[in-house]
Amino acid sequence: MSETLDLFGSEMPEKPAPAAPKTVVAKVQALRAQLQQWAHEYYVLDAPTVPDGEYDRVFQQLQALEGAYPELVTPDSPTQRVIGAVLDGLTPVRHVVPMLSIRTETDNEASGAEAFDARVRRELELDDSAAPVEYVAEPKFDGLAMSLRYEHGKLVHAVTRGDGEVGEDVTHNIRTIRQIPLSLPADAPPVLEVRGEVYMRRADFAQLNERQEAAGGKLFANPRNAAAGSVRQLDSNIAMQRPLSFFAYGVGEVTPVEQGGPDFVTHYGMLMQLKAWGFPVAPQVRIAHGAAELVQFHEFMGQERPQLPYEMDGVVYKVNSLALQRQLGFVTREPRWAVAHKYPAEEMPTVMEGIDVQVGRTGKLTPVARLAPVSVGGVTVTNATLHNLFEIRKKGVRVGDTVVVRRAGDVIPEVVRRVPGERTAYVPNFRMPATCPICGSEVVREKGEANHRCTGGLFCAAQRKEALLHFAARRAMDIEGLGDKLVDQLVDGNVVRSLPDLYRLRLDDLASLDRMAEKSAQNVLDALEKSKSTTLNRFLFGLGIRHVGEATAKDLARHFGTLDAIMAASVEQLLEVRDVGPVVAESIHTFFAQPHNREVVQQLRECGVHWEEGAPAEKAPQILAGKTVVLTGTLPTMGRDEAKELLEAAGAKVSGSVSKKTSYVVAGAEAGSKLTKAQELGVPVLDEAGMLALLRGEDV
Ligand code: IVH
Repeated sequence: MSETLDLFGSEMPEKPAPAAPKTVVAKVQALRAQLQQWAHEYYVLDAPTVPDGEYDRVFQQLQALEGAYPELVTPDSPTQRVIGAVLDGLTPVRHVVPMLSIRTETDNEASGAEAFDARVRRELELDDSAAPVEYVAEPKFDGLAMSLRYEHGKLVHAVTRGDGEVGEDVTHNIRTIRQIPLSLPADAPPVLEVRGEVYMRRADFAQLNERQEAAGGKLFANPRNAAAGSVRQLDSNIAMQRPLSFFAYGVGEVTPVEQGGPDFVTHYGMLMQLKAWGFPVAPQVRIAHGAAELVQFHEFMGQERPQLPYEMDGVVYKVNSLALQRQLGFVTREPRWAVAHKYPAEEMPTVMEGIDVQVGRTGKLTPVARLAPVSVGGVTVTNATLHNLFEIRKKGVRVGDTVVVRRAGDVIPEVVRRVPGERTAYVPNFRMPATCPICGSEVVREKGEANHRCTGGLFCAAQRKEALLHFAARRAMDIEGLGDKLVDQLVDGNVVRSLPDLYRLRLDDLASLDRMAEKSAQNVLDALEKSKSTTLNRFLFGLGIRHVGEATAKDLARHFGTLDAIMAASVEQLLEVRDVGPVVAESIHTFFAQPHNREVVQQLRECGVHWEEGAPAEKAPQILAGKTVVLTGTLPTMGRDEAKELLEAAGAKVSGSVSKKTSYVVAGAEAGSKLTKAQELGVPVLDEAGMLALLRGEDV
């Protein structure tokens, strides 16, 4: 496909003078085939047949030959997993065959499996005497869905699930996953889309977090977040350092049998064929007959779960026969032939030994239960959140009580409820402290809010640390190397008391810190220097104003053009910004009304932080004010969001359904029932060109 090749095209050197001799061509091909086989044995089968040194030697031999004859480099060469280019953004790609979701049942009993089997039998009109239905039972992997498209045996696209219809092209990162073949054996069909889950093994996740911690980088909450974050990187060098894995569990578009494609008869057979073509298939996948064997699998996997090298949150049952799958078909976006049977969140009782109060970046005080260590779903838990004072009251928990703790995949463990029982001694009810446990400032609770907050702002070390980390974050000022460990030392040692202090750091301030060689100290200074040249939206986001996320920061920057205009804006003027409501407007206004915050901004600018300021966005003439427009189908050049934005900027309301009140329907390719309805109701229908003409104020 052109996009992937383009990426390489730009990377490929000019054609060199010497043409490669035939023997070299043959040698290069042989080395590649050898490396591919060894990599498959090592990464997929987990059964290496040669020592690492031997692999490296052959790899270097191939690299040397490719260096001498660059015209022999192909995108699927084992040397070419990292593309090297850093992308500006991820490109949307429409799935030829949509990526569906599956119906989910969550329980620990047989009922989920039995209900599914009963439904399948009913739909297939099988009576009680008919033989048990054959299923395939698989783990439900806790990662992210991926569609890998191979054309003529070469990986051309790796696309995320997205909304099921349109995903994002992440080929550059997926190529770095050694378990995913870049090319397929000769018997693979001309078109093959393999669907499966990209995930991170538990051990790899733990190691990654250790490395992140040592480097002062961000820690990931769980393997799924780590995998998802890695897959969406724009720079494949980063993905390369993230140890990702893959399991295949299905196919998307495949060359049909009539055109020489594979004649898959069963789901299991298809999985085994994928395995033969080099894709990892989970060793736990089983054929199961009838509900009873599904239940057995669910129970068995529930026991295996803590020992598995990867995380899973349930199992998936699929009807094995593809003919029966076709007969069963789909309800809306879910197949009738598959169901996910999840495990309920793990819960365990333990004793609550105390309640600590943590202070977050925004100053929110969170009561955290200190627990007698307890293993919940294979992980030892010693702390669990109690959310806020009202939750504690509602649950009626007191120190010394036995409580039930829940860990549900990603979220921090929480205290669910108290286990009823006599209290042997009087324990007073928990109260929130009147002053911040970190800085001693007054603690307040805003009217109508459940949360208590410290009023210390940047004066509070807890908030200062978080504020610095937020300011330095990749999507804010992007100060590389300024991570947890460094910020802890800088704040605890009172070296950095405010954001501008960062830019006043000198080499010896940093070099005298723990675990900081002069070289890394200089790197941090360089990163700080580099970060001074930024954009208004990054800077605004970095300030950590409550309710101002990345998107709002962008909207504000676009709307006002300059920081001074934002700082001077009234609540009413702020409300004119797209998606800014009263709470957000109030928060921005209050932030800039504080002399302390204005001072911080002023000092940052004096330290040299700068950005290009623009003119405020002109408000487009509201030529479509009062009009309602419905978008349907795929427009030839424009995404739906883009079209919606243009229409809304001109004052139109964009609606999802056609009625007599609809002013226009804009229809693209494969427009369905909305177009029919518009025609029935006599609503004017426009194509993309017509819509653009309308926006220009022309008669349509
Ligand atoms: S099959 C038409 N099999 O679960 C069926 N999905 O809602 C398509 N998942 O995000 C999915 N393990 O990524 C299937 N063994 C498995 C799975 C699995 C995890 C995820 C999948 C998707 C969600 C489906």
